[in-house]
Amino acid sequence: MQIDETVDLLQESEKTVAFTGAGISAESGVPTFRGEGGLWKEYSPTFYANPIGLFLVFLISPKKVANFGQDVFETIFNAKPNLAHSSLAELEGKGFLSCTITQNIDNLHQEAGAENVIELHGNIYRVKCIGCGKKYWLEKDEIAPIFDKLKTRSRFRFAKRAIESAERCECGRICRPDVVLFGESLPKDSLEKAIQEIRSCDLLLMVGTSGVVYPAASLPPLAGDGTKIVEVNPEASSLSHLSDIFIQGNAGEVLPKIVSKLGFSPIF
Ligand code: OAD
Repeated sequence: MQIDETVDLLQESEKTVAFTGAGISAESGVPTFRGEGGLWKEYSPTFYANPIGLFLVFLISPKKVANFGQDVFETIFNAKPNLAHSSLAELEGKGFLSCTITQNIDNLHQEAGAENVIELHGNIYRVKCIGCGKKYWLEKDEIAPIFDKLKTRSRFRFAKRAIESAERCECGRICRPDVVLFGESLPKDSLEKAIQEIRSCDLLLMVGTSGVVYPAASLPPLAGDGTKIVEVNPEASSLSHLSDIFIQGNAGEVLPKIVSKLGFSPIF
């Protein structure tokens, strides 16, 4: 019923935008942040999600910083896009979806074939110069070995090896991962584009987000009065009060049903 209504909305919509969070990658084996087995259950975000906290962990135990980095990277490296990512890519390819605004850094929307992806929190495969801000893409096999090198009890050796392993920008400075930590600003161009897309859409698909992290969570409320909002999530979120249609379920099961009712199948 809700799926049929969503299909009708997609067919009627002139501009549909998707807004995604960690839940869309759960079925790819990337645990959500706040769910069972989530990253912030194992590593306290008070320390691990912000630059000052990470520096404190580094002062106490540099090895813990290396273990955290390796856990995050390896989980994502081993993940493949699931049917939810492919469904959104298929909707985009067939002209039913204008863009996907994501809080995820895992690159899985792009790996599934989506082209118009607005990343609010960066991308794990990209680094940016701490001086001029120029961005560079890295391959998995360039990133993976770094963490083993950093597994040392010595703060001095950790710092020296981190600087040695860091990508150098053409301006001569070093690069840092292009991901947003708590307390840091979101990339201005992505945020502005996301605001514009949400304000101008008439259908918003909100998939797999708890809606508790700001400023990202302040975007769906910017949708216009006439915009219909469909949420896909196994549980109610902090943004569920905005939804016209709430589809309770896993994104990897719900989105392919929508796509197949439109007469397509997710590109896989
Ligand atoms: P959360 O971990 O806060 O929320 C994940 C959401 O996905 C929850 O609402 C789950 O119910 C839902 N979910 C779980 N499995 C699902 C499935 N198979 N299909 C659909 N939904 C599912 O993750 P986010 O909302 O993305 O920020 O968190 C937002 C931000 O908090 C992240 O981008 C990250 C984090 O701290 C930064 O690191 C800056």
